[in-house]
Amino acid sequence: PVRRITVPQIAARKGGEPIVSLTSYHAHTAAIVDKYADFILVGDSLGMVMHGMETTVGVPLDLMIMHGKAVVRGTQRALIVVDMPFGTYEESPSVAFRNAAKILKETQCGAVKLEGGKRMAETIRFLTERGVPVMAHIGLTPQSSHVMGGFKTQGRDEDSWPLHIEDAKAVAEAGAFAVVVEGVVEPLARQITEAVDIPTIGIGASARCDGQILVLEDMLGLGDWAPKFVKVYGNLKQDIEDAVSAYADEVKQRSFPGEDHVYR
Ligand code: KIV
Ligand code: NA
Repeated sequence: PVRRITVPQIAARKGGEPIVSLTSYHAHTAAIVDKYADFILVGDSLGMVMHGMETTVGVPLDLMIMHGKAVVRGTQRALIVVDMPFGTYEESPSVAFRNAAKILKETQCGAVKLEGGKRMAETIRFLTERGVPVMAHIGLTPQSSHVMGGFKTQGRDEDSWPLHIEDAKAVAEAGAFAVVVEGVVEPLARQITEAVDIPTIGIGASARCDGQILVLEDMLGLGDWAPKFVKVYGNLKQDIEDAVSAYADEVKQRSFPGEDHVYR
């Protein structure tokens, strides 16, 4: 089997060839993404994208583990990163370690991701020193949407920039191997990228980040709606609708199953 891309290999891409990443939650889509992505994120966005939740706050650990297993099974090349869901790591470093270890052991993924800057630095250090590679996530952190009053672009007020840059420096200093920078104004994303020596992975951020990530279903055009920062590369919603409606018509007309689809 092909050896997977490693955490140090991702970390070494700082300032180099841009890191390609997408989310995936299933074995079949992950196998396609695996051909092109350096790492695949099993994001807690799956709660909203796949399970119809309004935010990511309600995602249980078991669901992350179930989808994490599917993505690991479906891939052989990319590093697999699994999100720690809300409520499984904020309380203390030891609670975070217990749940991160469960994710690594049960899914066989290569790293976890958690949200928060300076406030999570102690936890990031605790995990990395004990064998759990951590990808951090700063800027717009969806698990805090109840506090922020929704999904709000960060850094519109330039006075807030030093705080975001401090967050980036704190997670890098604590040992995070990369940091997702989500939903921040473009010049702030650039400054964050220049301020740290670990790769920044942008989403709604800047082309100057060290890599990019998007939610697969969003960029495939499968959702009803996507934020401004999503470039839609596919038209899956329409493709699925066309296929399902053609099938429904043929069933009603008794033209499916046809000659080729029955046993003689
Ligand atoms: O859950 C997710 O999909 C994410 C990415 C958008 C970074 O955290
Ligand atoms: Na997430």
